Amino acid sequence: MSPAANASQAQRWNGDAARRWIAQRERHAAIRQRLTPHLSRAAAISPGNHVLDVGCGCGETTIAVARSTGRNGGVLGLDLSGPMLEVAQRLAAEAGVANIRFVQGDAQVYPLSPAVYDVIISSFGVMFFDDPATAFGNIRGALRPGARLAFLCWQDDLRNGVFSIPLRAFMTHTQLPDLAGDDLFADPRRVTDLLASAGFTDTRIEALHEPARIGSDVADVMAYVQDTSNVRELTAQLDDEVLVQRVLATMAEEFAARQHPDGVWVDAAAWLVTADNG
Ligand SMILES: C[S@@+](CC[C@H](N)C(=O)[O-])C[C@H]1O[C@@H](n2cnc3c(N)ncnc32)[C@H](O)[C@@H]1O
Repeated sequence: MSPAANASQAQRWNGDAARRWIAQRERHAAIRQRLTPHLSRAAAISPGNHVLDVGCGCGETTIAVARSTGRNGGVLGLDLSGPMLEVAQRLAAEAGVANIRFVQGDAQVYPLSPAVYDVIISSFGVMFFDDPATAFGNIRGALRPGARLAFLCWQDDLRNGVFSIPLRAFMTHTQLPDLAGDDLFADPRRVTDLLASAGFTDTRIEALHEPARIGSDVADVMAYVQDTSNVRELTAQLDDEVLVQRVLATMAEEFAARQHPDGVWVDAAAWLVTADNG
């Protein structure tokens, strides 16, 4: 593996976060289910294309891309996480796709071959760099002249039911620290500037709003949400069991209001970002 510029992320995605992500892999795929087709549309992959999937995780998107490129093309999945790549390898073998390769490395510094890819994609895998300008510069170097980048990232947490329903439940019962935060990827102007500084041109950013199936019923969703890092941290900070129970009751009511015959659906808001290499 290349030197870890993003040491804390490398630790996170090779430890507890990877274990939790793998355990919830199918739920996460269901949450993204209506968003992924927008990425496919923007990536516009043709047979024979060579594609890089940055932060490919367990490889579901990578495998779908491998099918689109056909035997004359192929895809490389790059990710920090050894455990998630093991799952990706297994899923690719089960799917019987041969034109796919996975490598463990940090996209910010990984020595990618220069000017070989027709398309670089990422499904929520580019939001974790210590130095995003260096990372996007490194990624751009792997694109052929005129080739394109297409990625998905989340809009502000408070616009996403997956994150906002738990956060607002805490806000109903307690004062939270300022949530405006410093999320570069939530702000399209900052993303445009970032990509320009890394040498990309013609950045387009489209707001996506889609329903996301977060679970089968309220009990299932509550078990999941209570195990997310945000909710675990806020619960620990609250340190008041009565208040915690009130927060959880409010959360459960909100999810119950979104119960449909086929599951609990919340609103998801993502950005679809595309840009060209010169
Ligand atoms: C939110 S998950 C998304 C995974 C997958 N693309 C999906 O849609 O299911 C983020 C992924 O980015 C990876 N990641 C984070 N920082 C990275 C970096 N610097 N280089 C490569 N991968 C990274 C993590 O290991 C994780 O697999």
